[in-house]
Amino acid sequence: MSPPLFFFLLLLLLPFFSFYQRANGAYFKSLGVNFGQLGDDLPSASVSVSRLRHFRAGAVKIYDANPKILEALSHTRLPVSIMVPNELISSMAHNQSAADDWVGSNLLPFYPKARIRFLLVGNEILSDLSDNKTRFDLVPAMTRIHRSLKSRSIHKVKVGTTLAMDTLSVSFPPSSGAFRPDISKPVMEPLLEFLTRTRSYYFADAYPYFPWAADPTHIDLDYCLFRANSSKHYTDPGSNLTYTNLLDQQLDAVAFAMARLGFGSVKLAVAETGWPNAGDFGEIGANVYNAATYNRNLARRMRVRPPVGTPARPGAYMPVFLFALYNENRKPGPGTERHWGFLHPNGTSVYEVDLTGRRTEFGALPLPTNNEPYEGKVWCVAREEAAGNMTAVGDAVSYACGQGEGTCDEIQKGGKCYEPDTLVAHANYAFNSYWQQFRNSGGSCYFNGLAVRTNKDPSYGSCKFLAK
Ligand SMILES: *[C@@H]1O[C@H](CO)[C@@H](O)[C@H](O)[C@H]1NC(C)=O
Ligand SMILES: *[C@@H]1O[C@H](CO)[C@@H](O)[C@H](O)[C@H]1NC(C)=O
Ligand SMILES: *[C@@H]1O[C@H](CO)[C@@H](O)[C@H](O)[C@H]1NC(C)=O
Ligand SMILES: *[C@@H]1O[C@H](CO)[C@@H](O)[C@H](O)[C@H]1NC(C)=O
Ligand SMILES: *[C@@H]1O[C@H](CO)[C@@H](O)[C@H](O)[C@H]1NC(C)=O
Ligand SMILES: *[C@@H]1O[C@H](CO)[C@@H](O)[C@H](O)[C@H]1NC(C)=O
Repeated sequence: MSPPLFFFLLLLLLPFFSFYQRANGAYFKSLGVNFGQLGDDLPSASVSVSRLRHFRAGAVKIYDANPKILEALSHTRLPVSIMVPNELISSMAHNQSAADDWVGSNLLPFYPKARIRFLLVGNEILSDLSDNKTRFDLVPAMTRIHRSLKSRSIHKVKVGTTLAMDTLSVSFPPSSGAFRPDISKPVMEPLLEFLTRTRSYYFADAYPYFPWAADPTHIDLDYCLFRANSSKHYTDPGSNLTYTNLLDQQLDAVAFAMARLGFGSVKLAVAETGWPNAGDFGEIGANVYNAATYNRNLARRMRVRPPVGTPARPGAYMPVFLFALYNENRKPGPGTERHWGFLHPNGTSVYEVDLTGRRTEFGALPLPTNNEPYEGKVWCVAREEAAGNMTAVGDAVSYACGQGEGTCDEIQKGGKCYEPDTLVAHANYAFNSYWQQFRNSGGSCYFNGLAVRTNKDPSYGSCKFLAK
């Protein structure tokens, strides 16, 4: 072969070599899935694993190192991501034996028969602003875990940690992406240095749903659902890169923030993304139609080879884990929190999805009815079923009345809502009074499932239930 021809062929092949090198053992055939277990009615590990295979999941991520799940996964070829709980980070940071013991008792019994590929140390620990101590233990704990793995010659397991979008203080335009000043120097720099040195990934939890739900008039829904036409695309004036969807925009904000600190080559993985399929009354855009559209379009996008990457990182391969396998009924907060699954706990589908992205034809979806902001008033009252557990209602009323200003004044003797003097009537008042004060600062109308939102004014006689 003549030298020019040889070099020509080499040039042709180079992109493929670099692609497979980047993929580096953590290459998934299709979208990964988060298997959260915060439900009291979920199927067994082995049934869940068979569901994952049925959906042709490319990988699975769990929030601990549940031995039953790892055992069930041992009989599959599914790549697995496991997690060190947040509470253990500090003890590991200062104690190599603690890290060694954790690896010895949680990972070793299942490795390599379960294809554990990622070991995530902590979940979104930099989002807990009330804890400014554990964050400094994060990288030391990751370093010890990594040392533990190396000392046992385990080289296929990458060590990382998951981070929400709130690690950024600037995310728009993406080219201005920057980490929060409180963590940039003391946490992000050593973290990115660790990820570079160990060729691991920055695991981002990125949900276009949240910025859209907070500002649906300025953010286009189609742009979030990967189906905006070119008139809705966005060109970042700082980089001249054109964005076709909000997820890319979020991921590039992270990429630019990393580059700003001099770590522009750290790989990105999406640890969580998805769209809620239902929510409380008045919660915008949480429906089966949007959830199915988001996940199906993302699956199709991730299927393209070579990978699309993002505008700032064209062609980059990114492992992606959808949230979540099941709707989880024990998650606190607004109704959306309990509705991220593509399966009901009884194993039936909330909607059809093909994680390989190959399938393009699906049955008709119910049309969305809550894609516009709800403008009417909303109250929070006790559910009918609450009457079945008076102890629980009593506890919830005591909690609500202990919060805020004069929350329960009107249900004291002589107050306008004292009559009827029943626990359920008082709960209606207390739940609403609590929620109206705290709904804008993260308070939810939930009370362990005892409360529900309504658009029917519960006021009676001279007893007025306030609502915004
Ligand atoms: C370090 O961890 C080991 C194993 O978990 C534990 O037995 C030991 O007490 C710890 N040492 C300190 C100083 O906390
Ligand atoms: C940590 O938080 C406490 C209380 O919020 C504050 O007083 C302290 O200055 C903070 N320390 C650092 C290092 O940010
Ligand atoms: C893009 O969508 C808008 C409405 O959403 C429509 O008016 C416009 O004609 C579309 N443009 C193209 C090129 O499809
Ligand atoms: C973006 O494009 C415009 C027009 O082509 C050019 O003037 C400008 O310098 C570019 N900016 C960047 C950051 O590349
Ligand atoms: C499964 O659960 C969903 C949601 O609760 C329900 O609508 C559906 O009827 C159930 N299906 C079966 C077969 O039990
Ligand atoms: C009532 O609720 C409490 C939690 O507040 C729970 O511990 C208890 O088991 C419940 N009782 C019944 C009968 O459901």
